[in-house]
Amino acid sequence: MTKAKVAILISGRGSNMMALLYAAKLPDCPYEVVLVASNDPDAPGLALAAAEGVPTFGHSHKGLDRTSFDAIIDAQLKESGADYVALAGYMRILSTEFVQKWEGRMLNIHPSLLPKYKGLDTHARAIAAGDSHGGCSVHLVTAELDDGPVLGQLRIAILPEETAENLANRVVFAEHQLYARVLADFVSRERNPEWLLGKVRELALALPEASEKTSHGSPGFFVEGGKFFAYFSYDHHHDGIIGLLVKSSGVEEQAMLIERDPDLYYRPAYLGPSGWIGIDLGSGSMDWEHIGEWLRKSWRLSAPKRLTKMLDIADQF
Ligand code: GRF
Repeated sequence: MTKAKVAILISGRGSNMMALLYAAKLPDCPYEVVLVASNDPDAPGLALAAAEGVPTFGHSHKGLDRTSFDAIIDAQLKESGADYVALAGYMRILSTEFVQKWEGRMLNIHPSLLPKYKGLDTHARAIAAGDSHGGCSVHLVTAELDDGPVLGQLRIAILPEETAENLANRVVFAEHQLYARVLADFVSRERNPEWLLGKVRELALALPEASEKTSHGSPGFFVEGGKFFAYFSYDHHHDGIIGLLVKSSGVEEQAMLIERDPDLYYRPAYLGPSGWIGIDLGSGSMDWEHIGEWLRKSWRLSAPKRLTKMLDIADQF
């Protein structure tokens, strides 16, 4: 199984970055670190990563507007081949464009039990509020600061006479455990057949009058009054593939797709001669918008006239 490629963005000492990097060296870790980048070329974490043989990139944000700076970072991420971005003490507010580009693939670690205490001074605020616990959270990054779905948390007991500094020191230990685990689980789910089926199901059943029914042992999706438009295929006849089967316009398009992108497309057994195309979902970094388009196209080829009539008319203009 190929490993997911992760880039880490830091601004400072980079202890979380190192935790992610050391975890990546353990056997069976599902990700590898392909780049460590920073908005501070002197960030101590950069030298540590370089010493471990990881490619690094440092570029000061000074004098650049947010969008231009983020574009520089984004270009580096692309070049590194990263599938995911892990923010680890990256002290920059991100531009909307950058967040959108990486939405669903960018994680952050924050030293509080979100949604409590977004922003800075989290430990002092937890102590001042008389909380029994502080902690840390790993979440997906969205446009709002320290917002976005929480993927995992660890609670850390606050001691009597606690100081923010002591609590911060303990929370960092927890952060290192939490981040590596959550990141590993997160990148693995896109290789997990259950998760992939859930994702396909969500997209397929969102189409008009779509239903699900098992067909020859595989989950299939059909349009009421019409035909099947998709099948989820998992290790069918031991082919080892987690795939989605949809209708292409015919065997010519099928052949063209396979020639153009043989890692993504394949000719499915049985349905292949009828122009169906197999899409390998197991790469670990699927473009779900693309899958959504395929499902819509295939739905349209399978739906009864009464459902496609309006779309056909719209096409003429
Ligand atoms: C951590 O406390 C993390 O929660 C926050 O920034 C700090 C980074 O520390 N986002 P380090 O650079 O990883 O040591």
